[in-house]
Amino acid sequence: MENLHDKRKIYAKSQLIESEIKQNPLEQFRDWFLDASEDPSVSEANAMAISTVEEDGCPRTRMVLLKAYTHEGFIFYTNYDSKKGKAIERSHKACLHFFWPSLERQIIIKAELEKVAGNLSDGYFHSRPKGSQLGAAASPQSQVVPDRAFLEEKLKQLEKEYEGNEVPRPANWGGYLAKPYEIEFWQGRPNRLHDRIVYQLEGFDWKISRLAP
Ligand SMILES: Cc1cc2nc3c(=O)[nH]c(=O)nc-3n(C[C@H](O)[C@H](O)[C@H](O)COP(=O)(O)O)c2cc1C
Repeated sequence: MENLHDKRKIYAKSQLIESEIKQNPLEQFRDWFLDASEDPSVSEANAMAISTVEEDGCPRTRMVLLKAYTHEGFIFYTNYDSKKGKAIERSHKACLHFFWPSLERQIIIKAELEKVAGNLSDGYFHSRPKGSQLGAAASPQSQVVPDRAFLEEKLKQLEKEYEGNEVPRPANWGGYLAKPYEIEFWQGRPNRLHDRIVYQLEGFDWKISRLAP
């Protein structure tokens, strides 16, 4: 057995206390996201894990990139027919998770999801490099494919088809807006007495509570 019992870290970078936090969690997110974006040891501040519940009741987690956040919530882009797309179609819910180790911070977001307007997805799709646009069009995300050559062949065909022309956004590719109804901010503290502040939406107001670590 490879035991990791002695692998432990002291958390002492910062604190999260009621008198200093924002009353709106999206504003608190903004503060923390800016800190993470400015920290040179965080390589992709906008990488987040997203968990959805599968048909067998088991959650499934994978990384995606946050591409925008607004006063309403968090936007990312994917294939609507992917495993996550199908799970979102069923439950309209997901859990997003950020962990920025160098800041000793995590954020857990429970959200209701909806597709963003087509013109927003078009705008983002066409802002990506042409190779990424073609890659998205070539990949039946989450489907079993015979081999890698199948995908490369498909990409080659599409490169030829759209040479000198704009690649249309595939109808099954676009953005989701995750509208939070619960957001927990976790700040590592000494002696495992970490700070956990949770915001829960009650009507139009955010109720703020502290959770034991
Ligand atoms: C850092 C990172 C960022 C990623 N960003 C995205 C993304 O923005 N959109 C996406 O569809 N997949 C992204 N992926 C791939 C997903 O993790 C996943 O493999 C893919 O979306 C298929 O997931 P699913 O079959 O569970 O739906 C990313 C992977 C990593 C490691």
